[in-house]
Amino acid sequence: MTYHEYVQCNRLTKMGSAKFDFMTAALAEKQQTQRLRSLQPLQPIDAVQVSRSGQTYLNFSSNDYLGLSKHPALIAAAQSYTAQYGTGSTASRLVTGTYEIHTQLESKLAIACGQEAALLFNSGFQANSTVLAALLDRQSLVLCDRLVHRSLIQGILASQARFIRYQHNDLNHLESQLQQAIQKSYHRILIVTETVFSMDGDQSDVSALIQLADRYQAILYLDDAHAIGMLGKNGMGLAAHQPVDLTIGTCGKAFGSFGAFVACSQPLKDYLINCCPGLIYTTALPPAVIGAIDAALDLMPSLESDRQTLQQTAAGLRHQLRSIGYDPGTSTTHLVPIWLGAESRALQLSQWLAQQGILATAIRPPTVPIDTARIRLALSSQHTQAHYRKLLDSLAQWQAATNELGI
Ligand SMILES: Cc1ncc(COP(=O)(O)O)c(C=O)c1O
Repeated sequence: MTYHEYVQCNRLTKMGSAKFDFMTAALAEKQQTQRLRSLQPLQPIDAVQVSRSGQTYLNFSSNDYLGLSKHPALIAAAQSYTAQYGTGSTASRLVTGTYEIHTQLESKLAIACGQEAALLFNSGFQANSTVLAALLDRQSLVLCDRLVHRSLIQGILASQARFIRYQHNDLNHLESQLQQAIQKSYHRILIVTETVFSMDGDQSDVSALIQLADRYQAILYLDDAHAIGMLGKNGMGLAAHQPVDLTIGTCGKAFGSFGAFVACSQPLKDYLINCCPGLIYTTALPPAVIGAIDAALDLMPSLESDRQTLQQTAAGLRHQLRSIGYDPGTSTTHLVPIWLGAESRALQLSQWLAQQGILATAIRPPTVPIDTARIRLALSSQHTQAHYRKLLDSLAQWQAATNELGI
């Protein structure tokens, strides 16, 4: 049954009206272009293995880069904070949702990031989509890297500011835009980019961005989501201890938990507490999450050798991928894409890997630009040499099979 037929049938029995035809059309179109997505439940077994429909898979698609989501210290802290403070924070931060554990964690995060202040948010998406809107107005200009995450775009669009995307990591292009911008009378100019790009695993040049922001008096907004926990001093990201106006850190990736924070100056924090709807009009993060983030933060300095080993492993993997005919693009980190171009190839390879017991999701437009479909391998310190051998053997087999068939 096609999606259209399924929905038609559903509509007749349940909805009985044409008012949802727009959904039928949108979903049918996604099905036709093989872009219809659905949720596929699984059960975590450990930090790198999951089971789905009775089969065990090696997970190369999780952002749990240090395996902390299953770490006993995080679990114990989440449990003890719950026992002491309850399961919910019961209100927004500005009402009665700021417990001492929230402010203590913010102070610790600020110190660890080498910034004056930090402010918790409920997720990276929520932070990006609301902080940017709070900082900008219609007479502002945003210059952002062409490949930034959807949450950043969401915040920029919500602000209604003028918006120009510069070529990926091309700081000459950015500077030429800045030169033009200062001739005009914008209220503010913001430079927005990521430090480690989520789908490419490459990095931006943070020092050069700081210099440009300084030279043109622009506000520098860096999303450190994939560097937090992984890179920089004590793993606190590429923007830590640097004169960056505002950094977004997320806690659902290498921190193994959930939530996010802004690291910034105290006046900027005060401004967000007063003017950012995504902070004001939402229930504060629950105690269990605060406990888990706090425990992850305490572990960070001791995980340096895990981080270094993982980056060496990633370099070795990129080398081996090239040697068997794959292209890991511009990756320099623990995120290693395999460029395939056509969406059908990315899907075929992802399905082949699943048959071999490996979970490696195909990343396709609109998440990445057209004709740049890829498999995004997210490496974890908990992957073993045997796991990499299995991955590389499976990739080599697929390469051999497709070469033979001339695909
Ligand atoms: C660069 C970037 N920023 C923000 C987010 C959103 O973070 P969160 O998962 O905490 O909402 C993501 C998540 O994928 C990301 O890759």
